[in-house]
Amino acid sequence: MDAPKAAARRSREWTLKQPLVVFFLPAVLSPTLAIHVYTDREVHGTVGSKVTLSCTFWSSEWISDDISVTWHFQPEASRDSISIFHYAKGQPYIDDVGAFKERMEWIGDPRWKDGSIVINHLDYTDNGTFTCDVKNPPDIVGKSSQVTLYVFEKVPTRYGMVLGAIIGGVLGLVILVLVLAYLIRYCWLRRQATLQRRLR
Ligand SMILES: *[C@@H]1O[C@H](CO)[C@@H](O)[C@H](O)[C@H]1NC(C)=O
Repeated sequence: MDAPKAAARRSREWTLKQPLVVFFLPAVLSPTLAIHVYTDREVHGTVGSKVTLSCTFWSSEWISDDISVTWHFQPEASRDSISIFHYAKGQPYIDDVGAFKERMEWIGDPRWKDGSIVINHLDYTDNGTFTCDVKNPPDIVGKSSQVTLYVFEKVPTRYGMVLGAIIGGVLGLVILVLVLAYLIRYCWLRRQATLQRRLR
């Protein structure tokens, strides 16, 4: 093969390879390989109880020592969100501001891809949106995930009791009717038996 032909072939190979590079480069940078953070969409709690705000994630990289987890809270009626929790360099830090500083607990373990927290002693005014964000350098591209907390007064319990009473009442009535029907049938059968004995 002479030199010009070989050069032409090399150039052809390069033009063939180039689309591959162009094709794969975005894939490397695209969110499909980025970090994915998952939370529930909403959680419910009653005043005085506690809720677990679970946060898990998936990363294309090994879990690094620089992994960080951040939780933000945005009250229902507010446009601003505050940072309430931060995990970095293997240490959890509860922010010293906001309504949760004395009521929240870190139960996550980033080595197990878990960034969950617990909010204790729920208050009626805790309604709002919690955002969990995880960065696992060099895997830092990815969306955070949000969970909305609704705190109810203990009314649902009263409602549950009413519902329970109704169901219990209906069940009791059904049982009463069944027992009565059985008794009537029993008496009738006995009467028939006596009549027949008398007829013989
Ligand atoms: C919190 O949300 C619940 C459910 O929507 C609602 O009943 C309650 O009134 C809200 N609390 C406040 C303080 O707005």
